Amino acid sequence: MMMYERLVQWAADVWEERFPGQRFVTLRAAVECGNMIAHSQVKAGRKLRGKARYTGYERIECPVITPISDYGARGNKMVLTATAGAYIFHFDAEGEATFDVIFAAAYYDDDMQDLVSIALVPDDKLETWAAFEAACTRAVRPRIRRRRDVYVIGGADAFFDPTVDWEDVILPDELKSKLLDDMQAFFKTGVPIYRQLKLPPFRKLLLAGVPGTGKTMLCAAMARLAIQEGCVVVYVSGADRDGASFEKIQRALQAVAAARYPVLMIVEELDAYLRGDDKARILNVLDGIESPNNPQGALMLATTNYPEAIDERITKRPGRVDRIFIIPTIQDARHAELMLRHYMGDQWREEQLVLIDQLIEQPGAFVREVALHARMLAAHEHKTEVSLDMLEQSVSTLLRQIHADADFLQDRRPITMVGSNRNKRTNPFGWRD
Ligand SMILES: Nc1ncnc2c1ncn2[C@@H]1O[C@H](COP(=O)(O)OP(=O)(O)OP(=O)(O)O)[C@@H](O)[C@H]1O
Ligand SMILES: [Mg+2]
Repeated sequence: MMMYERLVQWAADVWEERFPGQRFVTLRAAVECGNMIAHSQVKAGRKLRGKARYTGYERIECPVITPISDYGARGNKMVLTATAGAYIFHFDAEGEATFDVIFAAAYYDDDMQDLVSIALVPDDKLETWAAFEAACTRAVRPRIRRRRDVYVIGGADAFFDPTVDWEDVILPDELKSKLLDDMQAFFKTGVPIYRQLKLPPFRKLLLAGVPGTGKTMLCAAMARLAIQEGCVVVYVSGADRDGASFEKIQRALQAVAAARYPVLMIVEELDAYLRGDDKARILNVLDGIESPNNPQGALMLATTNYPEAIDERITKRPGRVDRIFIIPTIQDARHAELMLRHYMGDQWREEQLVLIDQLIEQPGAFVREVALHARMLAAHEHKTEVSLDMLEQSVSTLLRQIHADADFLQDRRPITMVGSNRNKRTNPFGWRD
């Protein structure tokens, strides 16, 4: 027997016992009615549609259900959330008899953390029940009601700042314009096409590349442009204390679906979610089974350092990710020069061109570090100018350090790093795409 059948059978018996002869309809109910957050926010006395009022609930025992709760952080407090259990909700309406609804929620099975929930409702009270369900759902789901530009999904230490200028991201022009065109075309012309095809307008782009090539920076710059064009940004941080959990993706998807605006959803380090127990569910999201349906359109921008880890699961299966953009290290002298000029600022001199060759195949973060280090050396020596010598010294110091780190880390493979680097390769600059 299916779980819902067992719940309905049990509830129908309770109904006969408590409200003999009263007619009811059996419904698939909103699971949020069994959520502790809803119970604490939708209080007895709440006015519902018409003259009806919700007057409270009691918990009842149900042999089919083993009561158990999920829990999570709300602000800085831990609270109980989704709960398996059975309840009777009480209602009254002006000038009419009071009435009750029997509600039960249970988990399908051990693997799926999904509740199935049913309700037995007097057949002339559907309006009231629908209003109550809607109130519970609103209490639980993160909503984007008032206009705010960026929603960060993650712990208290999660952070995202979309203030990067598109011009400051130094990458091949062709790559940048393809990425931007893709986003703009999706929101302008793509969304209506998805809708015509009765598909949720959800497009997925993946930025892949070694650490420090500017993926996060690119996300921030895209976010800024998206906001200017009227989008809301939902940013999922994997780098906070809670790490990469499906629960976060789920919260983000709910926010995406509930937003009344087009959404740019950013998921950093997508590979981390594919390594955990929840990978099947992430794949469902990518496949469209659990895709958010935001009629205004949602574009997911994901990043990874491990395109090969994602390889078979994603790249070999069309549709899981619509496009993969490889974010390269510095590929040629022109790109290297632009990067060095940018980070040397007013300390840039033509003679520094001799160093260009050493920057090829390095990520942007390397050049930034080289420039900062040289400028600090100069300041330390009370010089107003960065000499070529200092810049050369800075390049060789950094290269040496990277190689030493790589050797050090290779000798001790089992050490796992903590903090935001924990998912990174051991040799941060030693890999080429
Ligand atoms: N293409 C680039 N143009 C300009 N600056 C860059 C570029 N790439 C990296 N940088 C500099 O290096 C810093 C680190 O880059 P960023 O965090 O964007 O790399 P990433 O690709 O996200 O790395 P990771 O994979 O480790 O998350 C940036 O804040 C920026 O200062
Ligand atoms: Mg990054």
